[in-house]
Amino acid sequence: MDVEATTAGPLDTGADTIVVGVFDGEQVAHDVPGGALGALLDSGEARTKLSHLAVTHAEGRRFILVGLGSREQFDAERARKAAAAAHGRSRELDARILCWEVPHHVDDAIVAGLVEGTILHAYRFDRYKRDSEDGAVERLLLSAHHDLSWPVGVAAVVAEAQNRARDLANTPANDLTPEGLSAYARGLAERYERLNVTVLDESQISAAGMGAFAAVAQGSEQPPRLIRLDFEGPEADGPRLGFIGKAVTFDSGGISLKTAAKMHEMKFDMAGGAAVIEAIAALAELDAPVRVVGVVGATENLPSGTAVKPGDIVTARDGTTIEVNNTDAEGRLVLADCISYALSEGCERLVDVATLTGGVVGALGSVYAGLMANDDDWAARVEASGRRSGELLWRLPLHPDYAEMVKGRYAQLTNLTDRRGASTIAGGEFLHHFAGSTPWAHLDIAGTAFDAHRPYITGKGATGFGVRLLVDLARGSGS
Ligand code: BES
Ligand code: MN
Ligand code: ZN
Repeated sequence: MDVEATTAGPLDTGADTIVVGVFDGEQVAHDVPGGALGALLDSGEARTKLSHLAVTHAEGRRFILVGLGSREQFDAERARKAAAAAHGRSRELDARILCWEVPHHVDDAIVAGLVEGTILHAYRFDRYKRDSEDGAVERLLLSAHHDLSWPVGVAAVVAEAQNRARDLANTPANDLTPEGLSAYARGLAERYERLNVTVLDESQISAAGMGAFAAVAQGSEQPPRLIRLDFEGPEADGPRLGFIGKAVTFDSGGISLKTAAKMHEMKFDMAGGAAVIEAIAALAELDAPVRVVGVVGATENLPSGTAVKPGDIVTARDGTTIEVNNTDAEGRLVLADCISYALSEGCERLVDVATLTGGVVGALGSVYAGLMANDDDWAARVEASGRRSGELLWRLPLHPDYAEMVKGRYAQLTNLTDRRGASTIAGGEFLHHFAGSTPWAHLDIAGTAFDAHRPYITGKGATGFGVRLLVDLARGSGS
């Protein structure tokens, strides 16, 4: 979708469909000659309740009136929601060029929300279908009296990056291998001068002492890749950020094999890695003044004659010994080595993003992702980015008594926790061991990464959760 801000009035933009929002107790800001929009509101057919829709025709165009609710409560999240509703109706009506008449006196975050809600709602994954369904909105215009090209441009870049992360995660494991993901990342680096991508192959991963990562990979015919993305924007200041992503391109569970029922969903087990890659791509496209290193651990987790076995003891890159008592707790093994690698490479603030535990799905469902952190200030910043971006986080506790759960019997750590609950926190404590005292936040996105029905993310499949949050965090907006 082409997205552009304009100071031209909606009727002068060539749009076939014009979206006009109305707040509680207010009138249509600019009515058409003849007053058709006000009449729609007066008749009760159009209402100001959030996301309420009504359609009429005037001046040779289609008008969609959208309720925005109370002006005081209207924020970026409500803007995303209202924009998604308007987009849905536009698509049903076969609109091609859509123009939002931006309400007066709203801030840039709301303008961004209108753009994001439209682009995210317009997402389809139909690459494998013979005939893709209906038409699509080709162009989105944001009309306002003043120039909105900056917030509109930023929001479009970020939302498109999120949709690309959805594409990556929706792509099945036969078409997106660890090598395929690394080739994709390398392709991004060719597009942005300040983005560099380096890839460690199987022998380099082993040679670097990443025995935990290598153990997960050893069962598969597909070789693993550690994908490193370095972006340093112009006049970058602030700490060097480390974004770490779990990219298990398929998680069968390994020898501790999963049951068949939902195993196909495990193509999504690389969603954290996809979010890291696309967040950094968005920062590169924005030329943001930030320094960030992405570390994405890409591998399959499969059973075979060479696979890691329950009871095996492996040595992580930092020397920690780990009993692999359940080969299905593979994400933390991969991330352990990626976290210690990021620390050695000088990262001063860490965030890892991973579909780590089924437990977080039970606890938080698909609305909030789990947040665990070793530093209250860093946790607060990450949480605030979640609120601003609408990618919500709920903090779960860490505690030395939880850390006991991941102490090994024959080695320092075990990746299997007994079945006495708190599996999400146990995963967090396992990673905490490797992060040490450097400010670190762990986002368990197992519940929010796919099949999460949100107001503007509809349909089954990947959500791209984490892209907007990481971009906001890196750009440090509002803090
Ligand atoms: N990738 C899964 C977690 C998962 C479950 C993601 C459901 C999305 C939806 C992870 O590798 C896993 O298998 N975790 C186990 C760990 C357990 C064996 C300690 C889990 O949470 O059940
Ligand atoms: Mn697993
Ligand atoms: Zn997994």
